[in-house]
Amino acid sequence: MQPAGREHWKSSLGFVLAAAGSAVGLGNIWRFPTLTGQNGGGGFVLLYVSIVLLVGLPLMYVELSMGRAAQLGPVGAFRTLAPHRAWRALGYLFVLTGIVILSYYGVVAGWTLKYFWMAVVDGFTKEASGPAFGAFTKNGTLQIAFLAAFLGLTTGIVFFGVKGGIERMSTVLMPVLFVLLLLLIVYALTLPTALDGLCFYLIPDPASISGKTFVFAAGQAFFSLSLGMGAMLTYGSYLSPGSNLMRSGLVVVLCDTAVAIMAGLLIFPVLGGAPDKSGPGLVFVVLTDLFATLPAGRFVGALFFLLLAIAALTSTISLMEVAASYWIDERGWSRKKAVGVTAGLVLLLGVPSALSLGAVGGLGNVLSIGGKALGFLDLMDFFFGNVSLTLGGFLLVLFALLAWKRARFEAELYAGSGTPAVVRKGLFFLLAVLAPLCLGGILGYMLITGQTLG
Ligand code: TRP
Repeated sequence: MQPAGREHWKSSLGFVLAAAGSAVGLGNIWRFPTLTGQNGGGGFVLLYVSIVLLVGLPLMYVELSMGRAAQLGPVGAFRTLAPHRAWRALGYLFVLTGIVILSYYGVVAGWTLKYFWMAVVDGFTKEASGPAFGAFTKNGTLQIAFLAAFLGLTTGIVFFGVKGGIERMSTVLMPVLFVLLLLLIVYALTLPTALDGLCFYLIPDPASISGKTFVFAAGQAFFSLSLGMGAMLTYGSYLSPGSNLMRSGLVVVLCDTAVAIMAGLLIFPVLGGAPDKSGPGLVFVVLTDLFATLPAGRFVGALFFLLLAIAALTSTISLMEVAASYWIDERGWSRKKAVGVTAGLVLLLGVPSALSLGAVGGLGNVLSIGGKALGFLDLMDFFFGNVSLTLGGFLLVLFALLAWKRARFEAELYAGSGTPAVVRKGLFFLLAVLAPLCLGGILGYMLITGQTLG
C-alpha cells in the first residue's frame, strides 16, 4: 500500500545532509580511528578509502535507486520492484537489523551524553578516567537511563517526520558538527604530539596490510556508509524522481569519508601515535585522560563529546526511520504509533546490551566465536552490525542486477544525470564483478573466523 502523499525532502541539499548525517556517526569518530590504530595506521586508511570508492559507492547507488524507484522502504521496495516473494524476507531482515543495531548503538550513543555532562559539570580527572569508565559501564541503571535518554531524543526527531524532523535537524546539526570538528583539528595540530601522530596515521606501512586488515576495512566501510540494511534505501525513497542520484550519492560518500579522515586528524595528533588501548577505551578513557591534562582540556572535551553526540544522533534517527517507515508504508500505521512501537522494541532489545558491560556477568560472556568471548552487545554487533550488513550488501547487488534487472536499475540510477558511457561501464563492472567477490569473500571470512570488527 503506497500512501497517497508520500513525504519528500524539501531540497536536495537537505537530502544530502540527512544522508551524510546517517553515514557520519560513532563509526567515523570512534570506530574508524580505533580500527586504524589497531591495524597499523596509514595502510589501513589507504585500504579503507579504496574499498569505499570501489565497493561502497556502487552499493550506495543500488540502495538509493531502489528507494527512489519504489518510493517505499526496503520491504515495499523488494515487493514492488521484483515479483518473487523470497526477496521480501530480506526486507524483514533489514528492518530487524535496523532495530537491533539501534538497540546497541544507542547504548554507546548514551555514553556521549554522560561524558558531555561530565565535561560541563564535573570536569575530568586524570587518575579517575579508567576506573570511572569501568564503574559507569557496570552501573546497569545508568546504562539503561542513558540509552533511554538517547532513544528519547531520537524518537522526538523521527516523530516529526522526514521534512520537519530529520531534514530540519540534519541541516542544523551537520554544519555544526563540521565546524566543531575543524576547530578541534586546529587545536590538535598545535599540540607537541601532533607530528608523531600524523606520521603514524598517514604514512602507509605495507607490512601492516593483510587479509584481516582488508576484512576490517571493508566491514568498517559498509557500516560507516550505513549500507546493507536499507537505511540509504529508505532515505532514497523520499527523493522525488527528478533528483540527480549520481551526484548526491557521490557527495554523501565523500562527506562520510572526509569526516572519518578528519576524525583521525583530530585523534592521532592528540595521542601522538598508535593508541595503546582498544575499543571503547580509546575515546572514553584515553582521550578523557588527555583532556584532563591538556590546556583548556575541559572545554575541548566538552566540544568533543558534543560532536560525538551530534554525529550519533543523526545516525540513530536514520536507523529508527527504517522501522518507522515499515509500519507506516506496509501496515498503514500513523507515524506516532510507528515511532512509539519502534522505540519500545528498541529499548527492550537494548536492555541486555546495556547490562552486558559489567552489570550482569552472564550477559558479558554469552558465546565464544573463534576463541573470542563475546558479550551480548558484541554478539549483536557481530551478527547484525557485521554479518547481516555484509550479507545484505551482497544480496542487494544480486537483487539489482538479476531480479530488478540491470536495465531498469540503470535507467533509474542515470535518470537526471548525463553520465558518460565509460563511467556506466566501469560502475557495472564494479557491481557485477568486484562487489560480489569482495562481499562474498568477507562474509565467508567473517563467519569462519568470527572476527568482530569493533
Ligand atoms: N553509519 C553510522 C555510523 O558510522 C551508523 C549507521 C547509521 C548505520 N545507520 C546505519 C550503520 C545503517 C549500518 C546501517 O556511525
